[in-house]
Amino acid sequence: MKHFVTAGLMTASLALGLGAFGTAQADEAMDNEAVQTRQMLMDGIGGAMGTLGCYMKGQCELPDGVIRNLANGIVFSATAAPAAFEQNTADASVKTTAKPDVWTNWDDFSGRFPEMKTAAMNLAAAAGDKGAMGAALGELGKSCKGCHDEYRSK
Ligand code: HEC
Repeated sequence: MKHFVTAGLMTASLALGLGAFGTAQADEAMDNEAVQTRQMLMDGIGGAMGTLGCYMKGQCELPDGVIRNLANGIVFSATAAPAAFEQNTADASVKTTAKPDVWTNWDDFSGRFPEMKTAAMNLAAAAGDKGAMGAALGELGKSCKGCHDEYRSK
């Protein structure tokens, strides 16, 4: 009898252990996906900024319509960003440079995206006018740096 009880307890604890393992793995997979999604979003923004920088330096020509599309892409990313960052990815195993403060200071963090959006809208409106674009890009760059300084680990 004692033997059966022990075996039963062992099976139960094994099942519990596996259950916890399964959940942890699911959390990890979900968090990894969330990290990769928001990094892709940020990389898209970075790509647009790089192309706009090339134009500003006179290293490449861009039609006004393309400048507007790039700027509007940043506007869209700023709109999508809060949802992309919402998930606290403490269980992620892929590399992330997002600090835990993103989620402990969520209101401040997420409140920075509307500023970024406004700067990108001003940039779209300035397409083709390098003077006005320079000012708008300066504002936009400040919003990137301000948030990265605060919420990204080096
Ligand atoms: C409100 C905060 C915030 C703003 C504004 C912001 N970022 Fe980010 N960005 C982050 C965080 C947090 C990460 C780290 C994401 C991670 O690794 O999980 C990041 C990561 C990145 C990355 C690296 C992505 C990767 O593959 O690891 C690039 C590139 C980037 N941002 C570009 C920009 C540019 C350009 C702007 C401005 C036009 C900008 N970001 C504005 C918070 C912000």
